[in-house]
Amino acid sequence: MTVTLKPITKDNFQACITLKVNDDQKMFVAPNLYSIAQGQFTPGTQMRGIYADDTLVGFVMWTWDNEDHDPPEMWLWRFMIGGDYQGQGYGRAAMQHVIALLKIEGVTELFLSYEPENTGGAQFYAGLGFADTGRVEGGEIVVKLDLTEEQGV
Ligand SMILES: CC(C)(COP(=O)(O)OP(=O)(O)OC[C@H]1O[C@@H](n2cnc3c(N)ncnc32)[C@H](O)[C@@H]1OP(=O)(O)O)[C@@H](O)C(=O)NCCC(=O)NCCS
Repeated sequence: MTVTLKPITKDNFQACITLKVNDDQKMFVAPNLYSIAQGQFTPGTQMRGIYADDTLVGFVMWTWDNEDHDPPEMWLWRFMIGGDYQGQGYGRAAMQHVIALLKIEGVTELFLSYEPENTGGAQFYAGLGFADTGRVEGGEIVVKLDLTEEQGV
């Protein structure tokens, strides 16, 4: 099984919109319909479908932290794997692709935030090397990954 990232286009956005997390995870991530709409109005936003071979299994979206890209820091705004596809290593493989892409772009730090109740997400990100910043924004815990260091994942 090969995990790849592909652009969101007219050919796959409908499938992306129908992709859902489990019911008890819905408070942790916005619906993909909302995210794809938001991405249209946020310059510099990147969106990708996460594929396992030819099957769309997830969605990821990231954007610059500042307009002039200085310092070159990104925020991961959305990350989800469909409920039917979780626990099979797709999330980790997709994040590794995102990290590799951002490194090529010269991004030095990747930030994200999650709800304090999202213990699964917390473990997932900690396993990828994300470290607590001590910051809480909008009630969410902010963590970051230093992309100038070799990732051990
Ligand atoms: C968090 C999420 C992206 C993980 O995706 P996934 O494809 O199921 O994760 P993987 O199978 O690649 O797991 C990678 C690692 O994370 C760990 N992990 C994933 N989900 C976990 C959970 N709920 N609890 C504990 N550990 C978890 C796995 O055990 C695995 O660790 P290992 O390699 O040491 O065995 C997915 O559960 C999801 O979409 N959740 C709902 C949306 C969400 O919370 N997004 C983040 C918002 S900030």
